[in-house]
Amino acid sequence: MATAVLLLLLAVVSPSLASAIPSETAALRAFKSAVKPSSIPPASCLAKWNFSADPCATPRINDFICGVTSAGDRVVQLTLDSQGYSGTLTPLLSQLTQLVTLDVGENDFHGLIPPSIASLPNLQNLILRGNSFSSTLPPSIAAAKSLLTLDLGRNSISGPLPDLSPLAALTSLDLSYNKLTGPLPRLPPNLIELALKANSLSGSLTETSFAELTHLMVVELAENSLSGAIPPWFFLLPSLQQIDLAKNGITSVSVDAPPAESDSELVAVDLSYNKVEGMLPEKFSDYPELRSLVLSYNKFRGPIPGQYSREGSSLRRLYLDGNYLNGSAPQGFFSGNGQVSGSFGDNCLRSCPSSSELCLKSQKPASICQQANGVIYLPYKNETVDI
Ligand SMILES: *[C@@H]1O[C@H](CO)[C@@H](O)[C@H](O)[C@H]1NC(C)=O
Ligand SMILES: *[C@@H]1O[C@H](CO)[C@@H](O)[C@H](O)[C@H]1NC(C)=O
Ligand SMILES: *[C@@H]1O[C@H](CO)[C@@H](O)[C@H](O)[C@H]1NC(C)=O
Repeated sequence: MATAVLLLLLAVVSPSLASAIPSETAALRAFKSAVKPSSIPPASCLAKWNFSADPCATPRINDFICGVTSAGDRVVQLTLDSQGYSGTLTPLLSQLTQLVTLDVGENDFHGLIPPSIASLPNLQNLILRGNSFSSTLPPSIAAAKSLLTLDLGRNSISGPLPDLSPLAALTSLDLSYNKLTGPLPRLPPNLIELALKANSLSGSLTETSFAELTHLMVVELAENSLSGAIPPWFFLLPSLQQIDLAKNGITSVSVDAPPAESDSELVAVDLSYNKVEGMLPEKFSDYPELRSLVLSYNKFRGPIPGQYSREGSSLRRLYLDGNYLNGSAPQGFFSGNGQVSGSFGDNCLRSCPSSSELCLKSQKPASICQQANGVIYLPYKNETVDI
């Protein structure tokens, strides 16, 4: 027992014999030299990279005390603090062949993402978010077969996305807040989370991109220029929980009920601020877990489906404002214990009780509704009328 403790102590305090292999030390040196010295604050991690010591030697007392982690004589992790480091990424990083994590997030790195990074055979986490990287996502990224997480959000990456389907291990892809254009490419087949919010992506949602994504839970595609129809298969992707397609140019939506034996986990759908025409899809009410449905500011017409208010419905948030919905709001929303929040305002409803929070926002003027729906509108009434 005492011996074991002693051995343990020795293992912790005795200097390791490991010293980084020269090509790795050279890569770290090149990495630091590509950062503007004036952007390295004295108390930061990079300031402690003093190459008169060995980057992999332990224990670390003054030098390399953070930002770099080794396993034996090899660098496995390069995780910088967020200090506003300004510089470029050296292509020599590809010499760190055991590197598992590269994280320089929330700094001021700019220029190219070196294509050679993709050749790192063990790289699992590439986190460059919140910098100023520009140019395109190198097509060579498809070679990074071990990648689990690719987070390049909030940069200035432009151009079309390459085919990402070879990234077989990737579960989380975040390229939100960049300048990407073009259609959605083929996506990594094991993706769980897809975030491409606030780019300029165009085209429609195709089966080529999505059909094999049986693990996909989160789709964040808001604030792009996607157009066309959302076909029924999309809502039926087996693991899907959250869909945000707000602020695009979608023009139609078709929804099928999930098959009886399936366990749809769809919880939230946001299609607000698109150009969707037609009636509200009744079948949304057949999704057993759907709690939040936001269809505001589209061009929906016709009545609010009574199914949305049926007893036992899972809906808790329902935003339908800013459309051309007509008829009377279904009684079911106002009779129960008022468990649905949201808005039915700014429509062409003939009645919607002002006592309900759902009806606080007023309806459109009759003249606009008449033009949109081609029917004569009687003066608007606040009380609910049974249909
Ligand atoms: C680096 O370490 C050497 C040896 O310990 C020391 O003389 C030197 O001042 C250090 N340089 C910086 C910039 O801290
Ligand atoms: C609602 O509008 C449609 C046209 O969009 C019209 O055919 C229908 O008669 C209207 N229904 C009511 C109750 O006003
Ligand atoms: C309808 O509701 C508005 C706002 O709550 C109220 O000012 C108005 O008097 C009501 N009209 C009728 C006919 O009840």
